[in-house]
Formats: sequence, C-alpha cells, structure tokens
Amino acid sequence: MNKITAAITAVGAYVPEDVLTNKMLEKMVETTDEWITTRTGIKERRILKDPTKGTSYLAIQAAKKILEKTNLDPKEIDLVIMATATPDMPVASTGVYVATEIGATNAFSYDLQAACSSFLYGMSTAAAYIEAGRYKKVLVIGADKMSSIIDYTDRTTCIIFGDGAGAVLMEPNNEGYGLQDEILRSDSIGRESLKIEAGGSILPPTEETVAKKLHFVRQDGKTVFKFAVSNMAEVSEEIMKRNNLTNEDVDWLVAHQANKRIIDATANRMNLHDENKVLMNIQRYGNTTSATLPLLLSDYEKNFKKGDNLIFASFGGGFTWGAAYLKWAYNS
Ligand code: UT7
Repeated sequence: MNKITAAITAVGAYVPEDVLTNKMLEKMVETTDEWITTRTGIKERRILKDPTKGTSYLAIQAAKKILEKTNLDPKEIDLVIMATATPDMPVASTGVYVATEIGATNAFSYDLQAACSSFLYGMSTAAAYIEAGRYKKVLVIGADKMSSIIDYTDRTTCIIFGDGAGAVLMEPNNEGYGLQDEILRSDSIGRESLKIEAGGSILPPTEETVAKKLHFVRQDGKTVFKFAVSNMAEVSEEIMKRNNLTNEDVDWLVAHQANKRIIDATANRMNLHDENKVLMNIQRYGNTTSATLPLLLSDYEKNFKKGDNLIFASFGGGFTWGAAYLKWAYNS
C-alpha cells in the first residue's frame, strides 16, 4: 500500500485594502523610502484600519476564498489550525471563532503561536494528522493583524510589518505528492531579541506597562538578522542535502518575507541563482508574520505545476525556524 502523504490541494489569501507606503512612513517617523527599500526590500504594506476588526476577519476572508474556489462543504473540514501571533483576544481561541464563522461546524480548531514560523509549524502538524490517517481535510490559516502590536513612532519596527492572511487546504494523497520532509527548530536564545514584554503572565497589563509602551513589538534587528540569515540558510541547505536535491531540482523557494537580504542569503546558500525561482512579494506586503508563506503560495499559485519541488523556509521570534520540502500536487 502506498504511504499517505499530506498535499496542499487549494490556496486562498486576503489582504486589506488600505496601503501604507514608504512615502507615508517618511511623514510619520524619521526614515526614507531609499533606506527602507535598500535595507529591507519593502515598498508598501497593507493595514486593516477598521478598529472593530481583528485577525479573525483577515483569516475568515482567506478561508472563504478556498471554499469558493473548491466548492467544498465546510462541514467536511475536520480541523482548522489558526497560525497567528496576534489572536483576537488572549483567551477565547481565534481559530474556534474562524471555524464557526466559515461554517466548519464539524471541525475542531485551535491557535498555534510560533511567531513567524507559526504557519510552517501548522503545516507540519496538519501533515502529521493526515499521514497518520486521523483527519482528512485540514485547513491551515496564517493570519496576523501586525498593525495592532506595532508602535508607529518606532522606526525600527513600523517600517517592516503589515497585515494579511493566507490559507491552505491539506488532504491525503496516495501518489506521493505533498509534504516530503521537514526540519523544525527552536531556541530560546532569541527570547530577549524579539518580544512584546508585557501583557502576558510575567508582566500583566498595568497603567505603567501601557505608559511605557510595553505592549508593542520590540526587536534587536541586528541580532535577529544575524540568526535569521545563518539558521534559515542552514536548514534550507540541509533539507536539500538529505533529499538529494540540487539547485536544478528545486523549482521554488518559498521563504518567510522578513527582509529581502535574508531571503537572498538563503537562496545563495542553496545555490539558487535563478531569481525567478525565489518567490518574493515583500515589496508589496512587508512582513505579515504568519501570513507570508501562504500569501506567496496564493500570489504564485498559477506558476506552480504538478510535481514541482518547493522548499519552504521560515525564521521568527523565540527563536523558531525551519524548512520543509513539498511536492506540489496540482496544476491550476
Ligand atoms: O520575521 C522575523 C523577525 N524579524 C526579522 O527577521 C528582522 C531582522 N532584522 C532586519 O531585517 C534588519 O536588522 C532591520 C531592517 C530591522 C534593520 O536593518 P539593519 O541594516 O540591521 O540596520 P541597523 O539596525 O543596523 O541600523 C543601521 C542604522 C542605525 O543608525 P546608526 O546607528 O548607524 O546611526 C539605525 O538607527 O540605521 C538606523 N535606522 C534607520 N534609519 C532610517 C534604523 N531604522 C531606520 C529607519 N530609517 N527606519
């Protein structure tokens, strides 16, 4: 009997309409379009301006795209994994709300938080359930309303992040398509380098934490950059080696969109010199945290062919990072 693999069978995405350009940021903090473009590759990002809407809104729109495209009855979905670093609320799972709102009333759901690696970890979890034969239709959604945790007076973070959502449907495959291999890692050496200090169990919210702006993301960009370049590149190279893949065999690099220089460094380490193989949309969306990978899949879906070899790579706060090798399962 053929081994069951877990394949991506549909993709959906959503970004809010409001655009925050580098030129607009020039008026908000001391920065320039030139600095942002050369240091990060970002030109603009999307912002969910409606204060009554949270991450669930973005996630629901992305998930609905999949339902529309596939005509899938949402009652057939077994599990919804909601990958996010910005849940609607600290308690009362965002995933549960999203699943109910899209009509996935026979599914169970939970949130998965691993910063920028949340979606990759979520795909791994979904695949494990599917390979084991436990569940057949798993929706993995990556969504973040990063604008809700960004200090728009801090030029070292506000230029980077944006809001967005993407989703994939994963299902069993008996022809060998889907997830082939993965290397997932984490190390708390990064705990101090990228964090929101207050609002958790160590430092619950007080007037003082609000006054000191401790509920926003802060990062030591240089340190994060250094670890991101070395760790993301290392696992990407390793996953190629242990699957006997050369740069010719890799059709697409699907890398977390945090900084164009980090993506380029990873591609270089993989000997991927054909820039058409390196998926890139950071210029339009910035770093959307859990949404970067599925947003790339959605933007480039039409380019993928059945049997193409995709390497996923991510790096995020914690630190969390990893790489995955997936064989694309369909022609669009
Ligand atoms: O999703 C995973 C998590 N995040 C990441 O992966 C981000 C990783 N880090 C980075 O992408 C980069 O470190 C940044 C884009 C955050 C910063 O780029 P950098 O090349 O590492 O700049 P830097 O922090 O070394 O700063 C260089 C200079 C500094 O000025 P001095 O000290 O040389 O005078 C900064 O104060 O640039 C200054 N600077 C800015 N200047 C204009 C910092 N931010 C800005 C800005 N505009 N927005």
